[in-house]
Amino acid sequence: MDSFPSPSIRSDRLDLREFGADDLGLAVEVVAEGVPEALPPGVPADRDELAAWFATGMYSTGRADAVHLIMLDRASGRMVGAIGVFHPDWQVRSAEIGYGVRTDARSQGYATEALAAVARWLLTEAGIQRAWLSANTDNTASIRVAQKAGFRREGTLRRAGIEDDGLHDLAVFSLLDDDERPELRPEGTHRRDHAPMMAVRSRYGSSADSGSETAPEVGAGFGLRGSLSPAPPPRPG
Ligand SMILES: CC(C)(COP(=O)(O)OP(=O)(O)OC[C@H]1O[C@@H](n2cnc3c(N)ncnc32)[C@H](O)[C@@H]1OP(=O)(O)O)[C@@H](O)C(=O)NCCC(=O)NCCS
Repeated sequence: MDSFPSPSIRSDRLDLREFGADDLGLAVEVVAEGVPEALPPGVPADRDELAAWFATGMYSTGRADAVHLIMLDRASGRMVGAIGVFHPDWQVRSAEIGYGVRTDARSQGYATEALAAVARWLLTEAGIQRAWLSANTDNTASIRVAQKAGFRREGTLRRAGIEDDGLHDLAVFSLLDDDERPELRPEGTHRRDHAPMMAVRSRYGSSADSGSETAPEVGAGFGLRGSLSPAPPPRPG
């Protein structure tokens, strides 16, 4: 069976590595903060279940179905969020990415930096030719992250997602291995003040911000510094 290779991903400020049993304490802290969206989707809130999930549940299928990565700020050693890869289609060589950042670490470019780095890994080292993601059409922050990381908006899946507050339209974005994409060049750590998030959902917790359906500006805010390496050969079998 196909599976993702062992990830070793490093970006300007972040180490992106797989969650391990030693990270249970961090996860407990994040759950206590009430931001489960900064943990892999599906993590239980109960401490005992959380421990079991970290010990075995997360890795029950190896890396065939998913890779769960912690976003660690190298300078501070602090976990700022989580990013994962899911739903691989090994025939098509596509995979979905999801991400979440701790509340007090938002609007500092972490999600964009992590998304760009994980997409690069997928498209150059992991045998994937199409990385994609979806966000509620009213999740302005997530849509902005996808745009800044060079993902292109493909369209809207109408009422395709469900949250505690009901059905949502989903904006679908993708990045292909031969798409030109921005090389991430964070313009310093910055914090911008926005209206507070109105709601949180479970699957990397899309927030209900004031919405916009504007077409993506590929690379907006970042200098385009080259494109991806040529596509890797198709995986055998
Ligand atoms: C979406 C999320 C991951 C973004 O993380 P982040 O580290 O803050 O993202 P970045 O700092 O890289 O970029 C966020 C962008 O959205 C903008 N933004 C943030 N909050 C916003 C808001 N309420 N309204 C409009 N724009 C907003 C930021 O200004 C920034 O854009 P800019 O660089 O053009 O100014 C984070 O808000 C989060 O964890 N949300 C809950 C989980 C979630 O929605 N995950 C995505 C599911 S698809």
